[in-house]
Amino acid sequence: MPLFVADPARCKGDAICVAECPTRIIELGSEDAVPRVPADAEEFCRRCGHCVAVCPHGAASIATMAPEQLPPVRADGLAGPEQLEYLLRARRSIRSYLPRPVEREMLVKLLDIARFAPSASNRQPVKWLIVYEAAEVRRLAGLVVDWMRAGLPAQAPATRRSNERFISKWESGLDVICRGAPHLIVACGPENLPVSATDCAIALTYLELAAPSFGLGACWAGFFTAAARQWAPVQEALALPDGHITCGAMMIGHPRYRYYRLPLRNEAHITWHESNR
Ligand SMILES: Cc1cc2nc3c(=O)[nH]c(=O)nc-3n(C[C@H](O)[C@H](O)[C@H](O)COP(=O)(O)O)c2cc1C
Repeated sequence: MPLFVADPARCKGDAICVAECPTRIIELGSEDAVPRVPADAEEFCRRCGHCVAVCPHGAASIATMAPEQLPPVRADGLAGPEQLEYLLRARRSIRSYLPRPVEREMLVKLLDIARFAPSASNRQPVKWLIVYEAAEVRRLAGLVVDWMRAGLPAQAPATRRSNERFISKWESGLDVICRGAPHLIVACGPENLPVSATDCAIALTYLELAAPSFGLGACWAGFFTAAARQWAPVQEALALPDGHITCGAMMIGHPRYRYYRLPLRNEAHITWHESNR
């Protein structure tokens, strides 16, 4: 069974799949103009499904995706620019959470959305680790504080002063690392894949943007991520799959407070590059 099949009864020979294939492995047959993928090019297929999704006639399929399996694109499905700008501006990093847990099914639903994030060559390398118990999140945060303490002597004065403040807040009982979030979601990727960090960051961004629509709040866990990259006790506690590293992490839970205004940001810094020839 070939990887790619175009149904000759439906195919109109318009070559849209040929043009849209990211690796350009689809070719029009010489006699019948029905597209095909030469056997020796199949290894270059990214299983992205674009050929199936872009065919107006439902003619193309690949071994892992038939047109009938793919949800149709809805004409009214995209948010307008104003809605989208609002969504992107109104998301907030949440730093106070209610102590009640989020249902596991809801977290799974969020990750089910995040898996549609783009990834380099459609590798979809992200693996998720959910730290579900609040007490474990707190314990891990304590290990992050140990990492901070151990790093103080080598730090530049300003970083050191800032970290000393965080440590003293922690010692006074305030969770300045995971902000009292009941859960932590860790994205990890293959250590030897140069784009792991990028792919994980995009997937985490999807997760963060989707969270408010479920009534949830989230916040990037930067201290946690840095410690998980450098500090053996955190790495041992996480026990990630072999060959995988922490690329990013997100605190998540029910927000304690709502926001009433959208903070301002710096103007976009833009340079128009012109040819100087
Ligand atoms: C990579 C990254 C790491 C971050 N790490 C932390 C963190 O460890 N703790 C925290 O409270 N906020 C963290 N933040 C949140 C930023 O402080 C926040 O995005 C910024 O202040 C802007 O606020 P907003 O997200 O509400 O727009 C992080 C954000 C990013 C993108």
